[in-house]
Amino acid sequence: MRKKIVAGNWKMNMNLDEGHELVAGILKGLPALNNDKIVVIAPPFINIQHSYYQVEDTDHVYIAAQNCSTENSGAYTGEVAASMIKHAGASYVIIGHSERREYFNETDAILSKKTDTALDNGLKVIFCCGESLEVRDAGTQNEYVEAQLKAGLFHLHKHQLANIVVAYEPIWAIGTGRTATSQQAQDMHAHIRSVFAAQYGQNIADDLTILYGGSCKPSNAAELFACADVDGGLIGGASLKASEFLGIIEAMMHA
Ligand code: PGA
Repeated sequence: MRKKIVAGNWKMNMNLDEGHELVAGILKGLPALNNDKIVVIAPPFINIQHSYYQVEDTDHVYIAAQNCSTENSGAYTGEVAASMIKHAGASYVIIGHSERREYFNETDAILSKKTDTALDNGLKVIFCCGESLEVRDAGTQNEYVEAQLKAGLFHLHKHQLANIVVAYEPIWAIGTGRTATSQQAQDMHAHIRSVFAAQYGQNIADDLTILYGGSCKPSNAAELFACADVDGGLIGGASLKASEFLGIIEAMMHA
């Protein structure tokens, strides 16, 4: 059975004290999770180790980084290696967020290499995809997202897919308050699953966790998570308040 995941992407928010408070608040209100319903928290790099120490005794709560280097080590000033992220306590890394693609010029080739480096170093990958409003208005979103997934992930071996989570995040819905309708999310998630089924077989596709991201909040999470192919969410803004993040986790528990 595929896992359901609620993952919080803090982006460039929260200093150490604020991050400590936020994680403490989340842990305080956390329902009983299990192997199939887990929570992931992605703070900035410098919070990773501290956040990990806060959650390490709580089952089914994991830490993620928001990015990692393509390289393993060496003279790459300002970069953070996947091995360091793993050593600091993280289990996951978000790769290919649209903000990284757009503002930091991360190409498909770079993202494919980052995915390999992360997997080689024992991290699981939350791989993001999603189209702009322009692409959505042109009606070519299925082809666009399919191309992103093929370029970033389809060089992987079947056995590596167990360590991949896909996050569909339409750019026009990120931080805009404009959520995709549950029908739009379901249609794209079903398409993504069919693309994986064609490449890797139905069993692998059925086990793949596909998250929705983009203005997901407590008031719309239940409807989104009720869709057959939506296996949870990657949450930005609403992950910065414990009460809101917990509301979304509750929606997963009841989905
Ligand atoms: P948002 O961001 O929930 O603030 O729209 C989602 C994301 O970018 O991961």
